[in-house]
Amino acid sequence: MALLKIARMGHPVLLMKAEPVADPGAPEVRRLAADMIETMLDAPGVGLAASQVHIPLRLFVMHLPADRNGGAAIGPSVVINPSFEPVGEDTAMRFEGCLSIPGLRAAVPRWVRIRYSGVDCDGRPVGGEVDGLHANVVQHEYDHLDGILYPMRVTDFCSFGFVEELARFPPGMEKAA
Ligand code: NI
Repeated sequence: MALLKIARMGHPVLLMKAEPVADPGAPEVRRLAADMIETMLDAPGVGLAASQVHIPLRLFVMHLPADRNGGAAIGPSVVINPSFEPVGEDTAMRFEGCLSIPGLRAAVPRWVRIRYSGVDCDGRPVGGEVDGLHANVVQHEYDHLDGILYPMRVTDFCSFGFVEELARFPPGMEKAA
């Protein structure tokens, strides 16, 4: 296990479209997933895509602590070769941060409810129909696999700011888009 270096915005790897993982059970993929989980928990963060550790492959890890996910902890888990689709047409503005853009947050429009799927390192299917933080994290991490960073989705730059300042002067977002 090892802590990996996290790429910061401006590094070209974050703009690459990541390649599918050919063999999810390969020892190097298991090791990568384990190292990514360790790196995410150390940061700490709720999600981390392989592109963020300079490896443009289609996998991400996530960990939703119980106190941020309505009392139900999710993960830490790995999602390899993910796909997702919206369920319904509702979108909402949600505040997001990113380990590749430390210290900043902004409100981003996201699907409220999605269905996603992928596999774990044993090839077992993972995913399901989710909403709330879970749906947000999946959409944010999935974007990384296509070289999209959340500032590219910001529609109201008045919501973009440093974490400490937004905490001092709450913009009162989370309204329907
Ligand atoms: Ni991110």
